[in-house]
Amino acid sequence: MVKRVLGINPTTVGTGQHDPAAVIFEDDELVFGAEEERFNRDKHSFETFPEQSISACLDFCDITLSACDTIAVSWKPKAKTKYDLKLALDRNGLQKKAYQAVKNMRNYKISLSKLKNNLAELGSSIPPIETYNHHYCHAASAFFPTDFDEALVVTVDGRGEKDATVVWKGDRGSLERIRTYEYPNSLGAFFGTITTYLGYRVHNGEGKIMGLAPYGKYNKEIADKLLTLVEPGVDYDVSGLNYHAGEANTKLEELFEKPKKSGGGHFTDWEKDLAHIAQQFIEETIAEIVETYSHEQDTSNVCLAGGVALNCKMNKRVMELDVVDDFFAQPVSHDAGSAIGAGMLGTGVTEFKQTSEVYWGPEYSSSQIKTILEEYKIRYAEPDNLEREIAQRLAEGELIGWFQGKLEMGPRALGNRSILADPRSVDSRDKVNKFVKHREEWRPFAPSLLESAAEEYLINARPAPYMIKTFDVYDEKKDEISAVLHPADGTTRPQTVREDQNRRYHTLLCEFERITNVPVLLNTSFNDSGEPLVNTPTEAIKDFFGMGLDTLVLGDVTVEKPIRDDREKIRSETTTYEQ
Ligand SMILES: [Fe+2]
Repeated sequence: MVKRVLGINPTTVGTGQHDPAAVIFEDDELVFGAEEERFNRDKHSFETFPEQSISACLDFCDITLSACDTIAVSWKPKAKTKYDLKLALDRNGLQKKAYQAVKNMRNYKISLSKLKNNLAELGSSIPPIETYNHHYCHAASAFFPTDFDEALVVTVDGRGEKDATVVWKGDRGSLERIRTYEYPNSLGAFFGTITTYLGYRVHNGEGKIMGLAPYGKYNKEIADKLLTLVEPGVDYDVSGLNYHAGEANTKLEELFEKPKKSGGGHFTDWEKDLAHIAQQFIEETIAEIVETYSHEQDTSNVCLAGGVALNCKMNKRVMELDVVDDFFAQPVSHDAGSAIGAGMLGTGVTEFKQTSEVYWGPEYSSSQIKTILEEYKIRYAEPDNLEREIAQRLAEGELIGWFQGKLEMGPRALGNRSILADPRSVDSRDKVNKFVKHREEWRPFAPSLLESAAEEYLINARPAPYMIKTFDVYDEKKDEISAVLHPADGTTRPQTVREDQNRRYHTLLCEFERITNVPVLLNTSFNDSGEPLVNTPTEAIKDFFGMGLDTLVLGDVTVEKPIRDDREKIRSETTTYEQ
């Protein structure tokens, strides 16, 4: 009898705020999973119940909710509500305390009944619900997919129920809590505060600040002032900046005598320096925590998860520590990944099949894709050797929309919902920015490369299938892949690809190498600015015609724009018209 566990990050009142998701396990195998944003098209889907992702999990298994043995929730709502109450009492005056107390208890009751109501709306009886500590879920998602017998596990995010950073010792099937840093002493909230101060949205712009940081430099005046509010290192304390985003921004405005930036985009040298120092602060603090507890726990294997573990520059720093031999960062490290951890804990087993992949979402057959194209009256071709033809087009400078197989879970497109370009010239980067992604021109792009070629390009190379680790690149190889290096520091954040991980994408890389001698492609997520990753063929088609892509690949077929054939004619007609 198959045991089915549905893992969810519900993000309703009393649990987390963002990135709702659902995954389903059959015994020891995660068989399907996706974030809610991929269905409702609302990026990060704040405070949204993952109704469509749950339905997609059940549809995949062809079951109703009642056929699940357990629903595993990646939060303990009661614990979070109680801690919220404590924070409110610590923070507010007597009148506000009473108001907040009532509000929190009401929220708690609402959260439990809302969760059950939301589940009941799915149309069948509700199986037993198990709730798990949020950081415990992140820790499970980081440790159980590895083959480490033992490891140091660090979970670091904005906040859980009351945890902000937790150090764990993983030992075969168990996780022991070693140290807890409680909210508001939160590195995620600290970095989120800097993110909002520099004009981006919290839970959304942190990666951009990480990308901005290498353009800045150490600035003693900024560092000295910042260190009057926060303390780095193993006993870090950022509580002074993290209590509440609004208050924290006011503190920064007073500290630096500069107003909060409204809207990101272009940055002054001073702002770049602030990003640099904030990034350095995060890196040094996590590095010191890892060094201290690796020694103490006598282990050289390190696992990271939680939203801050998406900071691939920080991961590089951890990976390169002398005390670290082997390293794993969960690719779905943000809160959607807590659903994976909850599901794992709900199964009661600790060794899983294929949990270190991310291709868990919906897929579409060739006949479904053709039917959609025919309904839209869009011409398509079915090349005999798709990978060879697309590699040729990439080598000629085309921008390709590449839609294949199962949708990726997590923030990175890993060759199934990707926009691809030739990595050999910075022109490609500029073209992708100008014609496709409509985003800040200073932001870097990342490569996919054959795992077998990683040692030729990457210093201290090791498999990196998820674009969650950054590497330095050998000087003599930099010219070959200039479009996928960070313009300021020359590092790169690769996806290494093996045939058994993604056969068609691997073949495409081999074909591109055959033509160019470079087994690398620029790979960025298939979506327009501000959108979640495309999920369906229809979304891919809409983005294809709404952006400056040259060719769209949908499974076995290719789609072009009329302008490709008629370019010269249109150009001459345009010239005539202008005269
Ligand atoms: Fe989290």
